[in-house]
Amino acid sequence: MSSTLVNAAVGPSAVAPSPVSKLPDVGTTIFTTMSALAQTHGAINLSQGFPDFDGPPELLERVNYYLTHGFNQYPPMMGVAPLRQAIAQKVEDLYALKCDPDSEITVTAGATEALFCAIASVVHAGDEVIVFDPAYDSYDPVIRLQGGVAVHIPLTGPAFGVDWQRVKDAINERTRLIIINTPHNPTGSVWSEDDIHQLRELVSDTNIYLIGDEVYEHMVFDQQGHTSLCRYDDLYARSFVISSFGKTYHVTGWKVGYCVAPEQLTTEFRRLHQYVTFTVNTPVQHGLADFLQARPEHHLQLPDFYQAKRDLFCELLAPSQFKIRPAAGTYFQLLDYSQITDEPDHVLAERWTKELGIASIPISVFYQDAEHCAHKALRFCFAKDDATLRQAAEILCKL
Ligand SMILES: Cc1ncc(COP(=O)(O)O)c(C=O)c1O
Repeated sequence: MSSTLVNAAVGPSAVAPSPVSKLPDVGTTIFTTMSALAQTHGAINLSQGFPDFDGPPELLERVNYYLTHGFNQYPPMMGVAPLRQAIAQKVEDLYALKCDPDSEITVTAGATEALFCAIASVVHAGDEVIVFDPAYDSYDPVIRLQGGVAVHIPLTGPAFGVDWQRVKDAINERTRLIIINTPHNPTGSVWSEDDIHQLRELVSDTNIYLIGDEVYEHMVFDQQGHTSLCRYDDLYARSFVISSFGKTYHVTGWKVGYCVAPEQLTTEFRRLHQYVTFTVNTPVQHGLADFLQARPEHHLQLPDFYQAKRDLFCELLAPSQFKIRPAAGTYFQLLDYSQITDEPDHVLAERWTKELGIASIPISVFYQDAEHCAHKALRFCFAKDDATLRQAAEILCKL
């Protein structure tokens, strides 16, 4: 059909009405905005959470192998069997959970898709979901898309801990789900065994589900263990546990993650997953399966690898004016700038990107209401080459 015919049918000035948005208050995410600003101004980009180094060469080689040897058609909806088996083995080795790769593991298009499907699996109109602020930005909109209500509870103190009394007070018969993110983006805090104990006390006689957003599971420092929900049988029985190969293997652009959940939760999860993405690209899944089986030491060494980067970044910044509490996990370091300026964090993040050539993320964007953020802090990603971290620290020490 020619364009003349299309225009004649619609009319020269016809404009489609804007859809009535289900998320009218949501704009472009801060991560996209700050990365674009960093690019425009040629700034060192410590804003968005991605490494500036590549994934392991052997993993790239395995994916390339499958890409060039005919593994390019639809894989099974739940993910290829060797990858699900390798995930099951890893979960058993690390967390002593024996789960069935056929009925409890689903490979997803990044943790983002897994979060969407897990939330949508259990949240119905009017249900309440507890999230802890500062919170990763995808939780709240997905809850609202289900007609649910996100109940935001602030983490407290310089260590960003959970105020368990507030959680207890927030729980009622409408509470359907609690979303836990440990290690935590953006604060770098990690849950302790005591947190798990408190959670257990609160949910044991309820129908509340749990999501464990554990995408930074291999970035827990100072010999602390990762309190995966997979470790605790009673909690796992009500949980969707989500992780991301993008974070673990320095390949965030591949967008491959997974969800481990008991059979009855996985059944519902897959009902949605099959109509969201149906499945995830074939050669990457096979490449990941090979690498997971052949090189388990990669994820075992990851805590030391990132701890060294955290230590380097914090040491380099020791003479600066920032107040620093080294991250206990993740690849993010919060820097408290209250001794330098009292500007709002979003203004400062933008100004430093433009004027100093260093991009970060303001912590207030992780709050339901930026006004409720009492912290003067910016989040810096230290998943960068040491040379980049040195360059960044040099700039920040001059302030
Ligand atoms: C806490 C948290 N959850 C989920 C995700 C999304 O992970 P993916 O890139 O695998 O979708 C991220 C990415 O930054 C994150 O920080």
